[in-house]
Amino acid sequence: MDVRQRWEELKQAALLGGGPERIKAQHARGKLTARERIDLFLDPGSFTEIDMLVTHRCRDFGMDKKVYPGDGVVTGYGTVQGRHVYVFSQDFTVLGGSLSETHAKKICKIMDMALKTGKPVIGLNDSGGARIQEGVDSMGSYADIFLRNTLASGVVPQISVIMGPCAGGAVYSPAITDFIVMVEETSYMFITGPNVVKTVTHETVTSEALGGAEVHASRSGVSHFTAKNDAEAIALVRELLSYLPLNNLEDPPRIPATDDPDREDTTLESLVPDQPNKPYDMKEVVTRVVDHGRFFEVMPSFATNIVVGYARLDGRVVGIVANQPAVLAGVLDIDASVKAARFVRFCDCFNIPIVVFEDVPGFMPGVAQEHGGIIRHGAKLLYAFCESTVPKLTVITRKAYGGAYDVLNSKHIRGDVNLAWPSAEIAVMGSKGAVEIIFRKEIDDAGPARAQVEERLVREYQDRFGNPFSAAHRGYVDDIIHPRETRPRLIRALRLLESKQDRNPPKKHGNIPL
Ligand code: HXC
Repeated sequence: MDVRQRWEELKQAALLGGGPERIKAQHARGKLTARERIDLFLDPGSFTEIDMLVTHRCRDFGMDKKVYPGDGVVTGYGTVQGRHVYVFSQDFTVLGGSLSETHAKKICKIMDMALKTGKPVIGLNDSGGARIQEGVDSMGSYADIFLRNTLASGVVPQISVIMGPCAGGAVYSPAITDFIVMVEETSYMFITGPNVVKTVTHETVTSEALGGAEVHASRSGVSHFTAKNDAEAIALVRELLSYLPLNNLEDPPRIPATDDPDREDTTLESLVPDQPNKPYDMKEVVTRVVDHGRFFEVMPSFATNIVVGYARLDGRVVGIVANQPAVLAGVLDIDASVKAARFVRFCDCFNIPIVVFEDVPGFMPGVAQEHGGIIRHGAKLLYAFCESTVPKLTVITRKAYGGAYDVLNSKHIRGDVNLAWPSAEIAVMGSKGAVEIIFRKEIDDAGPARAQVEERLVREYQDRFGNPFSAAHRGYVDDIIHPRETRPRLIRALRLLESKQDRNPPKKHGNIPL
């Protein structure tokens, strides 16, 4: 045998995947091939492929005649903005990208190397799931991946991009990873597809309506980002990586500061309306404070009463958690609590300082919320802030009421720098509600003067608690600041906190209320 010639043939076969016809079909669906995706994702020329010639060993059901070098997944490493990452890209043109024992071994190999070398793992998913011909071998191989996803969690960032089918148990690998990006119209994720749903629950639903990108971005909260096509999804992951360290022992990448750290913004002085129930857009506060107004929002369509994402202050990456008074008055409900808790825990794993912009009227009342378990879900956010040891800053712009005041990175749970705008109201609850409870008898006894008495009492309560002074007198906020100086004050605090050291008692792991 001419080894060189055979080697060349195998390489050519690996590069072609399932062949020209299937590549054509992939393109016709608006999808790129596994290799085109990698080329777009990594810095040009930086990809080093591993296991290009691996083939499956299944001989059942005619599989001995369906052998493809690479076995339906392209794996290796390369750089994104000059920093190393590991990547796997499933090839739908080869047996539907289905996962065999050897396909999984390739993925596990790069995951093991990523863990050893402290590099992120990015999975470009496009697969019909477990390779049916292989039976338990393919199911067990999924478990090999799940285990590695779990062991790598909190050690290296893991990002899943769903660019085609992702069904059955296969969804649980992306679900364990830190971020899921879904491509509109071409991707879907579900445990059981429309046919099984029809049989079991008699519901008729399309794949898109059951588990498409829009559904998971806005209703289930399974995904973090939605992209219009493969190229947009890949660009999004490249930008996301620019905010993340390569592993939990590194700090996030700092870039040279090109926005004036002392820049004040006078618009902030009048951004919060005088009337306490009037909404405003907290995202405007965030963008006016951070470098160049660039806020990279995570989960922008889910639980929009809380806003989370990344930005830079003086070139340093920060994770932003902000109540959104423009949606449900910024109340904390189940979805908002879970969304923010996971974000806070990610930041804490990966040494990303957290900045909170707080305007919260409390937790959401109602039977649905109570029966849905707002107690245990709200506790997740409380727990996440309590256990986090990264630099933690809070700016109270208006309401900081009740339990939500405690939860949102208060001084009491190790907030490092807590600042209040003059418009801050730090109280057990809003003035009207408080007066109705503590002065009910006095108001009832006032007879025809009831309205005036109530109004007077509300005014008195407002004077007493509808401001930041009680908290400032006790040191629960470090300072009251002019809104315009928010950016310089946060930057000064972050500079100091760069050398922060804090740790929790040694333990195997805590027992966060799941
Ligand atoms: C083996 C598969 C496959 C699979 C697709 N193919 N899925 N081969 N195992 N799981 C093959 C097809 O036979 C076909 O081969 C080629 O890939 C393209 O598939 P098509 O069906 O022609 O493509 P399309 O019409 O686009 O449909 C794609 C699909 C469908 C929706 C993914 O193929 C499908 O439903 N596949 C089965 C999905 C499934 O039930 N997977 C198991 C889930 S359970 P040829 O040679 O004809 O072109 C699971 C358990 C995980 O994953 C366990 C973890 C705990």
